[in-house]
Amino acid sequence: MSLPRIFLTRVLPLPVMERLNIEFDLQFDEADIPLSRAKMMEGVKNADGMISMLSDSIDREVLEAASQLKIVANYAVGYNNMDLSAAKEKQVLITNTPGVLTETTADLTWALLMAVARRIPEANQWVKSGKWAGWSPTELMGADIYGKTLGLLGMGRIGQAVARRAAGFGMQIFYYCRHRLSEKSEEALGVSYLSFSELLEGSDFLSLHLPLNEDSLHLIDQKALQRMKPGAFLINTSRGAIIDEKALCHALEEKEIAGAGLDVFEAEPGISPQLLQMENVVTLPHIGSASFETRVKMGFMVIDNLLSCFKGQMPSNVVE
Ligand code: GLV
Ligand code: GLV
Repeated sequence: MSLPRIFLTRVLPLPVMERLNIEFDLQFDEADIPLSRAKMMEGVKNADGMISMLSDSIDREVLEAASQLKIVANYAVGYNNMDLSAAKEKQVLITNTPGVLTETTADLTWALLMAVARRIPEANQWVKSGKWAGWSPTELMGADIYGKTLGLLGMGRIGQAVARRAAGFGMQIFYYCRHRLSEKSEEALGVSYLSFSELLEGSDFLSLHLPLNEDSLHLIDQKALQRMKPGAFLINTSRGAIIDEKALCHALEEKEIAGAGLDVFEAEPGISPQLLQMENVVTLPHIGSASFETRVKMGFMVIDNLLSCFKGQMPSNVVE
């Protein structure tokens, strides 16, 4: 029996590539650059399955270009890049990689929070550029983290993992999400529920942990930003478009908030030029899940989803 033909849009970590090459008839481009639309349409045409990145837009046109596609396994937990209703119509399964990247993304969230609060990139640049003339009582003063309030918008796996880390900083932790946790879970995590506007108003650090969809698009808009404390920091490791980036630039310019730590952007890899110029904004290139271990686990999860599908079983991580 011939192996299922899998179209992969980017090169994955070596242990994943090795397994993919054993299990499947793998088609991919060694150049490993974001795939052009034309190459995507060409690649999907005769594929039985596809492995997509969060940067690949799997829309109706792509799905309709495929003649025998059974599954698109997204190499990400987020799946806002997928047209789920077109996939359903075409009877193409869509899977994601939940769970395996939770702790890694929570770690990065903390790295970003601490980097912006304590001005780490700026301080590093200061030393490396030879500006450091010795200890100073007033240079590079940042904001404290311990004892402050942490507001979590969204309380899924990643939000909860961020909350667990906050306990070590003696922070008061508040959250808002659509489905409130049980009292028992709130107690175990040491978190208290607030309304959306109370959360905006009460947080020294506001961190976003929700999926991007119609409800969360531009949830952090001009009005929301104006409710935040002038000393507050906004942290985003979820999806860029949850924040209205233009409104954020304005809020930062007007000093309505103190700073932002951003791993994701509305039109990535495009970034509003103002954000690149502000020292109180730390920008990362969407590296939330980027540890070697986690990227391998994500790849193995993708493989398991594909294998289940081609064995005629329901993959574990189908989204709809
Ligand atoms: C990363 O952003 C992911 O959704 O996996
Ligand atoms: C993502 O996996 C989340 O539920 O936060």
